[in-house]
Amino acid sequence: MAKKILVTGGTGYIGSHTVVVLQEAGYEVLIIDNLSNSSIDVIEGITRITGIRPVFEKVDCTDMDGMRAFFEKYPGIDGIIHFAASKSVNESVRKPLLYYRNNIVSLLNILELMPEFNVKGLVFSSSCTVYGEPDKNPIDEDAPIKPATSPYGNTKQINEEIIRDYIHSGAPIKSIILRYFNPIGAHPSAEIGELPIGEPQNLVPYITQTAIGIRPYLKVFGNDYNTPDGTCIRDFIDVMDLSRAHLVAMDRILEDKSDEKMEIFNLGTGRGVSVMELIRVFEKVTGKPLNYQIVGRREGDIEQIWANPEKANKVLGWKAETPLEETLTSAWKWQLKLRERGIM
Ligand code: UD1
Repeated sequence: MAKKILVTGGTGYIGSHTVVVLQEAGYEVLIIDNLSNSSIDVIEGITRITGIRPVFEKVDCTDMDGMRAFFEKYPGIDGIIHFAASKSVNESVRKPLLYYRNNIVSLLNILELMPEFNVKGLVFSSSCTVYGEPDKNPIDEDAPIKPATSPYGNTKQINEEIIRDYIHSGAPIKSIILRYFNPIGAHPSAEIGELPIGEPQNLVPYITQTAIGIRPYLKVFGNDYNTPDGTCIRDFIDVMDLSRAHLVAMDRILEDKSDEKMEIFNLGTGRGVSVMELIRVFEKVTGKPLNYQIVGRREGDIEQIWANPEKANKVLGWKAETPLEETLTSAWKWQLKLRERGIM
């Protein structure tokens, strides 16, 4: 019988792409999402790609009663991939309690319910934000954790510690923590992608919205950094590559491939790309010049960070493979599809 995986935040950006990958690998996928930052239409996109409609229930992970009712209704869940979280750095500075409640209480509820319902594995979405400004690049998993620069970043650090302490206490679960670098792009079919509500805060949705005329120009936040072209450097990873790492991680837990009860992996390409380089590649693949202006630095930005993904490459046997050109083409195709459908 197919193993059952609960994907929290499964209508969100990375969640929805991971649902597709899990379904295609033969897992039975159930989604919960409170739809606070995603649309129920995403279920249609997933179904069009895989031909399988995942179970969906509108449940907020902070609602313990709702969560328990869900596990009672759907017994036999083998593993959980926990994406559901608030993720805006900016908003977290303005609404810290919202971030602590959403991101911490959700995890506490899940961890409490796992042994009660015999759920063995947890794959957790963390972020390279836990490293702060690195002393050196590329950065590996043993690099020091720096004081968080935002409540959002702090919730990721605290969540990692909660999982560590719970497992250390002898809890009958296993966990893999995945530290994402900068996920971008969309499913190549353009049936699902990133759907920011309001003005995007992340670079690639801002670029595609500018290119299609929704935004007049992209603001490049600073060209006076200590980098070759003066703009910040990031490790941009294709969302499909990232999603495949979740599948490998879940397989690893459920097939007991490791003696470790908790493992941490960086998910990146191992290649640093500057903001200006990314813009140039986007212009090349779309054949359109992009309107942009250099403006002042954005507060809290890290100058340069890219992953050493060797641990994931060796231990998980996973590698980010999609060329940046292809990833940006998928992001652009998705933006065009949104226009075609009259969504944006
Ligand atoms: C940020 C968070 C990260 C979080 C991620 C997801 C920080 C330090 N990191 O990543 O923890 O997981 O968002 O939401 O805040 N840029 C522009 N113009 C724009 C937008 C971005 O020049 O309109 C630049 C930024 O200055 C940065 C780069 O593009 O140098 C990437 O920015 P972004 O996509 O927002 O991601 P991060 O800041 O790396």
